[in-house]
Amino acid sequence: MGNALDQYGVVGHPVAHSLSPFIHGMFARETGQKISYRLHDVAPAEFHARVRAFFAQGGRGLNVTLPHKIAALDVAHELTPRAAYAAAVNTLAARPDGILGDNTDGAGLVRDLCDNLGVVITHRRVLVIGAGGATRGILGPLLGLAPEVVVIANRTAQRAHTLAAAFTELGPVRGVGFAELGGAPFDLIVNATSASLAGDLPPFPPAVIGPQTVCYDLAYGKSATAFVEWARRQGCARALQGWGMLVEQAAESFRLWRGLRPETAPVLAALKERSGSA
Ligand code: ATR
Repeated sequence: MGNALDQYGVVGHPVAHSLSPFIHGMFARETGQKISYRLHDVAPAEFHARVRAFFAQGGRGLNVTLPHKIAALDVAHELTPRAAYAAAVNTLAARPDGILGDNTDGAGLVRDLCDNLGVVITHRRVLVIGAGGATRGILGPLLGLAPEVVVIANRTAQRAHTLAAAFTELGPVRGVGFAELGGAPFDLIVNATSASLAGDLPPFPPAVIGPQTVCYDLAYGKSATAFVEWARRQGCARALQGWGMLVEQAAESFRLWRGLRPETAPVLAALKERSGSA
């Protein structure tokens, strides 16, 4: 006992390319926190046993990434309200009475949009494309900022309807199919489909974008995603990849674990440089 470092890590499958060790390593140096942060490649069948063992051996916290974010709901003994709403967990933390499950993805998005990028959401019209797990994770925090409306548009309209119905008590939210999208351009469009990563573009009408529209892709990569390129061609105000959300959700996890929030700007700059992203 005594000098052992507090143990943290990220659990996924695969996980080798995760940027979390780099991000949390920078946070720890910056804040003078002495921690260890490791990669854990764990197959779905072993997820519960491995997570339980990690905490039983004194581990302090884990980030959870694909494909385990839903399985992590059950491994937690207690959930934060935002994790319960998201129906997914991306952060686990050791607590005296068990494992706490949280979800910092939506908070990370909102912090990047509002604090880093100066985007206003209150009283604005927001379009979210996609109705899967990624959308579910960001709806609560977006609605918490009192937008005029959040419209969820999805290839499979029924999934958008179902998701909207689950969030109506948090604010004005509507689910539609792409064919029903029309009217005035949106102030903010968030792409939360997995289509962009495959280089695909969901078939939504260009009229959703106007000169004041800010477009944000939850995906990120070395070069602009298909959605970001398309949005720029339509003449939007700004089109951004999700690098800032990646760093901000990590900062929110770090705060949950260590009780202090690191500076994110230097980490975001380093990450973009390291990844050769524009
Ligand atoms: P995630 O957890 O990443 O959100 P998911 O739950 O599988 O993953 O959801 C993926 C989302 O991307 C869905 O909204 C999906 O649309 P459907 O519900 O119609 O399947 C959307 N999606 C994936 N590929 C797409 C494509 N090529 N065009 C349009 N939407 C796509």
